Amino acid sequence: MAIDKSKALQEATRIIDYILKDDLNNDEKDTIVKDSIDNFNEHVNPGWLVYRKSVSTNEAFIEWEDSEETFKDLYGNEFIDCLGGFGIYTAGHRNPEIVKAVQAQLNRYCLHSQELVDPLRGYLAKLVAMITPGDLQYAFFTNGGAEANEMALKLARLASGKHYFISTVNGFHGKSLGAVSATGKSDYRKPYLPIIQGVQHVEYGNAEAAEAAIKNLIAVGETVAGLIVEPVQGEAGIVLPPEGYLKQLREICDKYEVFLIFDEIQTGMGRIGALWGADYFDIVPDIMTFGKAFGGGVMPITGIIARPHLWTEQLKENPWILGSPTFGGNPLACAAAIAAIKYTLEHDLPGQIAEKGKYLMEKLGEMQSKYDILVDVRGIGFLIGLEYPTPEIGWAVSKGLFKRGVMTGGTLNNAKVNRIEPPGILSYETLDKIISRLDETLAEVQEEFKGTY
Ligand SMILES: Cc1ncc(COP(=O)(O)O)c(C=O)c1O
Repeated sequence: MAIDKSKALQEATRIIDYILKDDLNNDEKDTIVKDSIDNFNEHVNPGWLVYRKSVSTNEAFIEWEDSEETFKDLYGNEFIDCLGGFGIYTAGHRNPEIVKAVQAQLNRYCLHSQELVDPLRGYLAKLVAMITPGDLQYAFFTNGGAEANEMALKLARLASGKHYFISTVNGFHGKSLGAVSATGKSDYRKPYLPIIQGVQHVEYGNAEAAEAAIKNLIAVGETVAGLIVEPVQGEAGIVLPPEGYLKQLREICDKYEVFLIFDEIQTGMGRIGALWGADYFDIVPDIMTFGKAFGGGVMPITGIIARPHLWTEQLKENPWILGSPTFGGNPLACAAAIAAIKYTLEHDLPGQIAEKGKYLMEKLGEMQSKYDILVDVRGIGFLIGLEYPTPEIGWAVSKGLFKRGVMTGGTLNNAKVNRIEPPGILSYETLDKIISRLDETLAEVQEEFKGTY
C-alpha cells in the first residue's frame, strides 16, 4: 500500500491537539478510548489489551494524568498507585522538584551533540560514585534495564577475558538477548534458544550451588567471568536472600576471581529501605546495575557502575567497545537522575521507606492472620509480595483492589504473587486506605473461592 503522507499528517495533527489541550470534552474522551482500543488491537498487539483488561475488570482504563501518589484515567477516576510502575515511582509521580530540573534542562538543550563534552553526564557519574559503596567509580549510562545488564555482562567478559556467567533460577535481568540469557525463567528464554552460550543457572539463595558451578566449570577447563544476582529477587515473587547468602557470594567470587554483578535495577534508589541492596547487605559488588527509579519517575535512564580495575586499558583506548548508545546519558535523563538523587537524599527516601515498609508489613501481617487465602506476606522496604494459593486468586485480588481504586500488579516469574511496590512518598493515611480496601477485597475473594484451594 502506498504511503499516504497527508493522511498521516492529519492523524498526527489530531493527536498533538489532544496532547496540547488542557481539557478534553466528553466526545474527545470517548474517541480516545475507542482509538486506543483499535490502535492496540491493530497496531500494537491485541494480547496487551486482553492482559490489561483482566487487571482492570472489564473496561479499558485509559491512563491520562498522574500526580504524586495517584494516577487518573481519562474520565478522572483516581487510583492509588501501589505498584509504582514496577519500581519506577519511588519518588512519586511527576515529583515537582524532579520535573522542575528536567523542564529547566528542556529549555536549554534536550539531547547531546554526541561530540562535545556534556557536563551533566560527568556530574551524574560522579554522584553515582558518591552514593554507591566502596570503590565503585566509573559509570556508563544506558536507556533500559536490560541494556544496562548487557553492558554489565560485556564489561565482565571484557575486563576478565573469561567466558561463563553464573545466574540464578527465576532471577530477572531483562529480555534483550544477553540479558534474557541470564534471566532464569524458561518461558522467556526457550523461544530464543540457543541464546548466549555459557550461562549456568543455580538455585537462588544457595551459595554452595554457586560455588559448585564455578568449581566444576573451572575443573573442565572453562573460565567464569561473572556472577549476576539481584540482592532481593523481584520478579521471582519477592524472594529475600537467606542470611549471609550475599556475603558468601562475595567471598566465592573473590576466591575464584569472578566478578560479582549486583542487578539493582529494582532494588536501588531506596526501594528496600536503603539506598541500595549493596548498602543494606554491606557488600561491594564489582559491577552494579541500576534503573527504574533512577530517573526519578520522570525520565528513562539506567546504567552501570564498576570498580576502577574493570576499566582496562583496552576500554580506555576505545570507550566504544563496551557500547555507544545514542541516547545513553542524555542531558534530560541526567537532569532527572541528578534531581532524583538530590530528592532521595534530601528527603531521606530510603529511611522513610524503611519505616513505612515496617508499618505496612505489620498491617499486612494482620491481614494474613485474618484470611486463609493470603498464604504469605514477605518483603523488605516497599518491595512486598503477597502470595495466594493459586494465580487465579492472585488475579482476583488485583482486580478487586483495582475496582476499589488501588493499583497493584503481579510478578513476572511467579503469578501467585501480587506485588505491593508503592511510591516511597505515600502518606500513612494513604497506607491505611490501602489496607482497609485490601481487607474488603480479601473478604470478597475468600468467599468467592471458598472450597477451591
Ligand atoms: C532486577 C531487574 N533487572 C532488569 C530488569 C529489566 O529492566 P527493563 O525492563 O528496563 O529492561 C528488571 C525489570 O523489571 C528488573 O526488575
